[in-house]
Amino acid sequence: MIIIKTVSELEAYVGRERNNGRSIGLVPTMGALHAGHLSLVERAVKENDDVIVSVFVNPTQFNNPTDLATYPRTEEEDCRLLAKAGVSVAFVPTVEEMYPSGAVRVKEFRLGTAAEVMEGKFRPGHFQGVAQIVCRLFELCRPTRAYFGEKDFQQIAVIRNMVESEGIDVDIVSCPIKRADDGLALSSRNALLTPEQRAIAPEIYKALKTGVEYSKDHGVKETHDKVVALVDANDGLQTEYFEIVDARTLLPVEEWEESPEVVGCITVFCGKVRLIDNIKFR
Ligand code: PAF
Repeated sequence: MIIIKTVSELEAYVGRERNNGRSIGLVPTMGALHAGHLSLVERAVKENDDVIVSVFVNPTQFNNPTDLATYPRTEEEDCRLLAKAGVSVAFVPTVEEMYPSGAVRVKEFRLGTAAEVMEGKFRPGHFQGVAQIVCRLFELCRPTRAYFGEKDFQQIAVIRNMVESEGIDVDIVSCPIKRADDGLALSSRNALLTPEQRAIAPEIYKALKTGVEYSKDHGVKETHDKVVALVDANDGLQTEYFEIVDARTLLPVEEWEESPEVVGCITVFCGKVRLIDNIKFR
């Protein structure tokens, strides 16, 4: 595996591989890699000639400076795991390398209504920052396929909209959520939980699963309230939002029959750590 730190080196590498007709799989990450990331990497390695994994904590998608400052960073260990997983390139740029004119958003991407609800409402500007970095990575890596985890369900919908509005030729591959044995969705932010918080965090997924059972003979609103009550009954967990939405538009549904595919998306504060998860209802 090669570790590339500069844009010029990355462009030279991609140019060579593309000229040789090789397919490129890209797995964009912010590092602090866990088994969830590695499942995307494993799939990318199977499906492409070359795999580039970017490890970059993108400042323009953080709307909270403390969240950015405390985001876990484990670059050396990340590179070790990626080499073991058979990745061709770990792209590990500095902020200055990615944003030579300063880490600010300069362009407004057309991301559709999918970017305005849920995370879009609670983290203003977040998806513009995600679109900015993912678009830049697509320009640099010219991937055949790019891999994203379904824990960030809304992010995938927003990236698909960005790809369409920017006319980028890439196949977006969405990969199932990886969970710990106790059900907690794997996330880099889990590393920030204290042992006590880590012990109650699985209650989020337990509540979602109970919600799915409950929904079989209850309406959308009752199911919503049930899940929120179950989560918030735990000392140390506080739901920020739980929305039951159409999987395609991400707009709320009022009746189960309204949409062929319904997903419940939840964000919960576990102390100061913000955890997200989702579950398919229909
Ligand atoms: O999902 C993430 O880790 C980030 O939002 C991404 C896609 C790597 C962009 O920084």
